[in-house]
Parts: sequence; structure tokens; C-alpha cells
Amino acid sequence: MNPKQKPIGIFDSGAGGLSVLKELVKIMPYESFIYFADSANCPYGSKPHEKIIELSDCITKFLIEQHCKTIVVACNTATAAAIDHLRKSFNLPFIGMEPAIKPASLNTKTKSIGVLATAGTFKGRLYIETSQKYASDVNVCYQVGEGLVELVEKGMANSKEAEVLLKKYVEPMVDCNIDHLVLGCTHYPFLKPVLRKILPKGIEIIDPAPAVAKQTSKILQEFNLNNDDTNNPYITFFSSGKSEILNDIVEKDETLSTYKFPKMYYQEIRIC
Ligand code: DGL
Repeated sequence: MNPKQKPIGIFDSGAGGLSVLKELVKIMPYESFIYFADSANCPYGSKPHEKIIELSDCITKFLIEQHCKTIVVACNTATAAAIDHLRKSFNLPFIGMEPAIKPASLNTKTKSIGVLATAGTFKGRLYIETSQKYASDVNVCYQVGEGLVELVEKGMANSKEAEVLLKKYVEPMVDCNIDHLVLGCTHYPFLKPVLRKILPKGIEIIDPAPAVAKQTSKILQEFNLNNDDTNNPYITFFSSGKSEILNDIVEKDETLSTYKFPKMYYQEIRIC
């Protein structure tokens, strides 16, 4: 098989990585994708890093068996815990999620930014280093988004429960006079409609997914792996648990549901 025509692997603890997949599809509509949702082990956020490394290792082996040419770790928690291990262990390019502290810190006028992420992401080297490097003169108001991933997975991103929980998490940030809110978990972009409703105007919500998609495209070009054959791209979805939420999000999403060549397969599979 021509290596350029191989699919891009992408994984998350669940449906969160779809917020990244849609940005990838937008800028690389000729690429094929294999999406793995580890729904049976979701959420990752509160699990020890050792466990996340084990799961990420197992999913990576599976994606390599599916002939993926590169892997996007579309999960901030898995990136924080496992990306160093994956890069050392497997001979293919990995693209991870980076908390968007840099753009928020460079653009803040109030010198105060908010970061919403999982406990696992805040514990990671990447978060600590990025904050030290870019946010040393900025007040970072951070909050673990306990319970938010579960609501998104249950299809309750637009519910009253989500609104109540988000209010509890962002009100202290608003009191800190933030003007940027960094979404440090790939599930959280699905909460944007509720966030927009409860946040005062003028607070910018930063989702790193478009930047990660651009970085993926750049890496493919660097490795000469970008697909130049426009025929028959496909997306295959695998899930280690129930996949209704994947179906539901894909069907409602403007980009994913109008995917040019909608060859989509869903399969439930236990691998780890
Ligand atoms: N989407 C994952 C992330 O970006 C969610 C983590 C979880 O499963 O708790 O961190």
C-alpha cells in the first residue's frame, strides 16, 4: 500500500476527540481516518498516569495494525501521561494536544486567563512547562472539570446539569477577571454553546483543535506522508464500549455529517 494513502489514526477516551477529527477533516478532506474511542475505559481524567500509558500503548498497537501512518492523540489527558512513552516506543509520528496557554497568555489584556482541564492534564509535564514558559507574568485561574466528560458522553452537553456545573467552575474565573478561557480537554468544545450563554461577552474561548489539525498537516508534509490521491477517503470508527454518542455527534456535526465521501463504519471492539 502506498504509505501516503494509509489512514491517520486518532484516539480519545471517548467522543471528545471528534472535536479534533472535525478540524482534521476540514483541512485534509482527502485523508482517511481511523477513530478509536476508548469508551469502556472513559473517563481517563482521574486515572493514574501508568494506567493511561498502558491504555494508550494498547490503542496505538491496534491503530498500527490498522496500518495508520501517523497518530493524533486527541486527548489532553493521554497526551499528558503517555506521549513521551509513545514517541519512544513506536516508530511513527505522534501529534498530541497542547493546552493553549501560549495564545491565551500572549493575547490577554487583563493579564488573567482561565484553564479548564482534567486532573490528569494538570499533573502533566506539558501543562507545567507551558505555564512556566508562557504564563509567568499572567494570573492563571485553573479548574478541574470534574463530571463534564461524563455529561458529554451521556449526550447531555446542552443540559441544565451541564449549565449548573459549568457555572460553578467558571464563576470564580470571571471573578478573577479572565479574558480568555482555555479548553484543556477535547470533550469541552461540545460545551461551548452553554459556556457562551453563561460567560460574559468579551471572554474568548480557546479550543486548540484547529491548531492541532494544522500541526498534523505540517507533520504529514514533513514526512512526505500527505495523501495526494483524492479518491475514496474513508472514516472508520471503533469504540471499546457503546458507540451511540459517536453516531449522534457525527450526525449532528456540520463538517462530519457532510463528509464528502461518507464511508463510515462503526464497530464495537475490546482490545485492552
Ligand atoms: N478528552 C479527554 C481529554 O482531552 C477526556 C479525558 C477523560 O476521559 O477524562 O483529556
